Amino acid sequence: MWEGRYANAGDYLFGEAPAKVLVENPWIIDGAETCLCVADGEGRNSVWLAEQGLSVTSFDVSPTAVERARTLAAQKAVNVGNHLCDWESWDWSQPYDLVVAIFVQFVGPEARERQFETLRQAVRPGGRLILHGYTPEQIGFGTGGPPNPENMYTTVLLEDAFNDWQLLRLAAYERDVQEGPGHSGQSALIDLVAEKPVDRSSTPPFQSQPSPRET
Ligand SMILES: C[S@@+](CC[C@H](N)C(=O)[O-])C[C@H]1O[C@@H](n2cnc3c(N)ncnc32)[C@H](O)[C@@H]1O
Repeated sequence: MWEGRYANAGDYLFGEAPAKVLVENPWIIDGAETCLCVADGEGRNSVWLAEQGLSVTSFDVSPTAVERARTLAAQKAVNVGNHLCDWESWDWSQPYDLVVAIFVQFVGPEARERQFETLRQAVRPGGRLILHGYTPEQIGFGTGGPPNPENMYTTVLLEDAFNDWQLLRLAAYERDVQEGPGHSGQSALIDLVAEKPVDRSSTPPFQSQPSPRET
């Protein structure tokens, strides 16, 4: 389905600029060196993160999207490790300082449990996860995202799922989004930035910056 959408779009479906949540919260990347962008699509987020100096790995299931991601990285003269891979086939054993999951609401509640588990696993102790997507109010806007409200996140859902991590940002808000033809118009968004607890007997955490926590 995704491959068809990208192929039919003919051009960058979600634009070439990064999601605003990254640009508006640059503190998220402070201290991070390695980063994994999951279901990265056409590379707008991985390329921006590489431009900030991170060593970025990404994967997506769509060949057309991965090809566009490689083109965008080449145009911007940055190196990104782009992989054509399905979520279930990805090797989740490698931990990263930062894991970026932006608009990955292609699964319902049952599969989401496993999806969140893999994301948790991919963050190293003391590292961070950013999850950015839509709340159920997005259904009323119809300006992007899946048609199923069960796929969306609420602050309660995310607080529950990451209640053993430090929540650095949890914010639900509405704004006009212009991210290519795929995401266009007034939207109901939600951000989570969470830090994985450190196993004090092993890896030292990277330096955290003070950050806003909103609900
Ligand atoms: C809404 S797009 C978001 C893309 C990108 N994160 C962005 O913000 O531009 C959702 C992405 O998830 C990818 N995707 C869907 N199912 C997947 C799966 N099982 N494994 C890997 N990627 C998948 C799609 O190919 C698509 O690129």
